[in-house]
Amino acid sequence: MCKNEANIIKVGNEEFEILLHENEIQKRVKELAEIITEDYHGKLPIIIGILNGSFIFMSDLVKYLSIQCEIDFFKLSSYGDEKISSGKVKMLKDLNADINDRNILLVEDIVDTGLSISYIKNIIVSSNPASVKIATLLLKPESLKQKIDVDYVGFEIPNRFVIGYGLDYAQKYRNLRSIYALKQ
Ligand code: IMP
Ligand code: MG
Repeated sequence: MCKNEANIIKVGNEEFEILLHENEIQKRVKELAEIITEDYHGKLPIIIGILNGSFIFMSDLVKYLSIQCEIDFFKLSSYGDEKISSGKVKMLKDLNADINDRNILLVEDIVDTGLSISYIKNIIVSSNPASVKIATLLLKPESLKQKIDVDYVGFEIPNRFVIGYGLDYAQKYRNLRSIYALKQ
């Protein structure tokens, strides 16, 4: 049995406080998976995780699906080690799958400015898939700079920097089971 994580995490001289507890996250991911299962019944979607941040959400989500699906990954770099979105994106890993005429579900950890997911969606759309939808665990509505339709949202959160459950600060803390927000 794993030890429970603390409610406060110290990172240098900054503190992060718990925002979403692991139980709450698991419950919501299960709910999203049930909705996605219904929406994609009989469709064999390709579920595409955006690396690195989505890897934990993606793996929990697909475990809760009760339909068949294929899996692929796409990798962009954008933030460097900063806490503020640079809006600059670069492709680091392209897809392996042929997505022509396929139903695509893009899986993100968080939509912040919306620039990364818009950029990725445009690339995907240019390969003529049958459909493209977006699932994100977290959405920061106040921070959006790009109008983007997100089909499945786990939680809307305030405009605060968060870590855990896949989300990093300078590549660390992705393996926390809960999500923590920087204390103001
Ligand atoms: P966007 O292009 O500004 O929407 O940023 C999307 C990407 O930035 C996400 O996929 C995350 O990897 C990263 N990101 C945005 N906000 C946060 C945060 O609060 N903590 C950690 N990473 C973040
Ligand atoms: Mg990401």
